[in-house]
Amino acid sequence: MRVYFDNASTTPLLPEVQDEMTKIISEVYGNPSSIHLHGRQARIVIEEARKTIATGLNASSGEIFFTSGATEANNMALLASIRDLGVQRIISTTIEHHCILHTLDYIREREMAQVLLLEVDDKGQIDLEKLAIILGDGIPTLVSVMHGNNEIGALCDLEKLSQLCMQTSTLLHTDTAQTIAKLPINLAKTKVSFLCGASHKFFGPKGVGFVYINNDNLIKPMFYGGDQERGMRSGTENIYGIAGMAKAFKMALDEMDYRKEKVSAVRSYFEAQLSTTFQDIQFNSTSKGLYNICSVSFPPTPKSEMLMMNLDISGISASSGSACSSGVENDSHVLQAIGHNAKRKTVRFSFSHLNTNEEVDFVIEKLKTITPVAV
Ligand SMILES: Cc1ncc(COP(=O)(O)O)c(C=O)c1O
Repeated sequence: MRVYFDNASTTPLLPEVQDEMTKIISEVYGNPSSIHLHGRQARIVIEEARKTIATGLNASSGEIFFTSGATEANNMALLASIRDLGVQRIISTTIEHHCILHTLDYIREREMAQVLLLEVDDKGQIDLEKLAIILGDGIPTLVSVMHGNNEIGALCDLEKLSQLCMQTSTLLHTDTAQTIAKLPINLAKTKVSFLCGASHKFFGPKGVGFVYINNDNLIKPMFYGGDQERGMRSGTENIYGIAGMAKAFKMALDEMDYRKEKVSAVRSYFEAQLSTTFQDIQFNSTSKGLYNICSVSFPPTPKSEMLMMNLDISGISASSGSACSSGVENDSHVLQAIGHNAKRKTVRFSFSHLNTNEEVDFVIEKLKTITPVAV
């Protein structure tokens, strides 16, 4: 048996998505920018996909731009808001994905804007009251706070954050790579300036995603060329990827409740089994967080040193909570930010509706050979 509990990292392509992509690959090969029949057929595929994404988010089609994924979308939102929207300060958090944090490093090093990283509490939450006080100074600001954290699953209260930003005329970007098509997002109700999606997080193909840019934000493109995506993102469109992403998105929305229930049940079973079977288990994720992520930290033992390798050898794919820097394993920036004890070994198990309790049983059995069992 081989178990895949690493769905926050990426998900497999669903057969229905693969079928849709195969159909487009074999039947639609025109360049969407060409005005002849073949081009028009390709254009229709892209515009239908755009409509699917926009409808699912309650946005307008003109606000959705296809990109290579969330990294590109996040870069665009941060950099363009400084260049084109008069942003003088970006306020973000210490637990963002590296595609935000490293872009902020770039911005800080070049003194393009002030950068302020808010600390989080041990549950990965920022202090909204503190943020409100900071925003009171009136400096033109973009707040960039991730919706769901990819390591510990902490969720921010997007509704409250959005209201705060509206009250203070602050632009809001949210990295929704982990929550798009997993949690309902209604942009007519929850106003944001930018958000992003990466298709491979919801059973679509890799290397394709989108950015939502609210109509009020007139930004310029990051790179120039043939003026595709209404000039916002030049380069011939990844038509198969876009079609696959739209299919995966639609399926995820249609099955959202079913998937959530199934995933939550597997995760609860896993957490219950972990708690009763092993000694000294600690969870970094909480029941209030993203339902597919279980971040668990094991006590230090000689075997836990090689925990990830042992899991892999045992037939289990999961993610480690550490980052390797200069050959030394350290807790990731997210675990450090929540005050995790670095002596403990953390594993992020992340589930999908394709996982089962039998797989959980398998993982628990294998873990018994790696970490101390409760007596
Ligand atoms: C929260 C978050 N943001 C951004 C990304 C980047 O997505 P991509 O690599 O598809 O561009 C990821 C992917 O791991 C993520 O989890």
